Amino acid sequence: MTQTADSRSRVEQAEEMSHSFGFRHVEAGKQELVDEVFHHVASRYDLMNDLMSGGMHRLWKNAMVAKLAPPRGPDSGWRSLDMAGGTGDIAMRIVRAANRNVHVTVSDINASMLAVGRQRAEKAGLADNLDFVEANAEELPFESNSFDAYTIAFGIRNVPRMDLALAEAFRVLKFGGRFLCLEFSEVDMSLLDRVYEEWSMRAIPRIGGIVAGSAEPYRYLVESIRKFPRQDRFAEMIRQVGFSRVDYTNFSGGIAALHSGWKL
Ligand SMILES: C[S@@+](CC[C@H](N)C(=O)[O-])C[C@H]1O[C@@H](n2cnc3c(N)ncnc32)[C@H](O)[C@@H]1O
Repeated sequence: MTQTADSRSRVEQAEEMSHSFGFRHVEAGKQELVDEVFHHVASRYDLMNDLMSGGMHRLWKNAMVAKLAPPRGPDSGWRSLDMAGGTGDIAMRIVRAANRNVHVTVSDINASMLAVGRQRAEKAGLADNLDFVEANAEELPFESNSFDAYTIAFGIRNVPRMDLALAEAFRVLKFGGRFLCLEFSEVDMSLLDRVYEEWSMRAIPRIGGIVAGSAEPYRYLVESIRKFPRQDRFAEMIRQVGFSRVDYTNFSGGIAALHSGWKL
């Protein structure tokens, strides 16, 4: 495959990603800037997701949960961790797919996102199947070998040191546990890439300005997508922390990709 200008602008090094805030280079404090973005957008986050992706994020998330295939029978004792789980969207889909027979811990660094998640869980009558833990993906407060699955959706690109987050995912999973990561990725069709570029760089910050009152956080979200490593490079990072049988599936021509790995 020929390398596009876009793919050249993507980071080749995890180190570079840890200092990038969208297209800006920040020496330190990427996490604080990311936290500000999500404190700001928390109350409008779910509505904005629908507007920004034209509802596509729902299909991608459902495909992620289908691939996870949580057990549907009673008393399985199955537990998963949804990291950077924000407003609990993935966790609630997992619990529903399992007929409420599993437990999911939603963990996120941002208290505002988790507060919205708790409210949603109560409203949906799913609070008994969920718990919410404020934590940094780079340093988890969970015991080693304790979860059957670890999911992270549209979260890892915001974490300054992705290699640490991946290593923590490996640590907290049980042997035989499943790692699944859904993230915006590199579009592999040039026409679609141009349409997507226009939409994401121009329309999304504008929609953010109208709906959430500020374009800036959405500019960051879009720019951070463009900086994220390509699918094959990210798969290699997952292998490097110890995961086996690593592969990925592109959704919508690579707008999003689902990476999978096993702790074996
Ligand atoms: C785009 S949202 C995704 C939320 C949810 N997973 C979803 O798909 O709707 C990204 C989330 O990553 C969280 N996040 C950013 N840095 C983090 C870190 N170092 N540790 C844990 N969560 C983090 C943010 O607070 C935010 O809730």
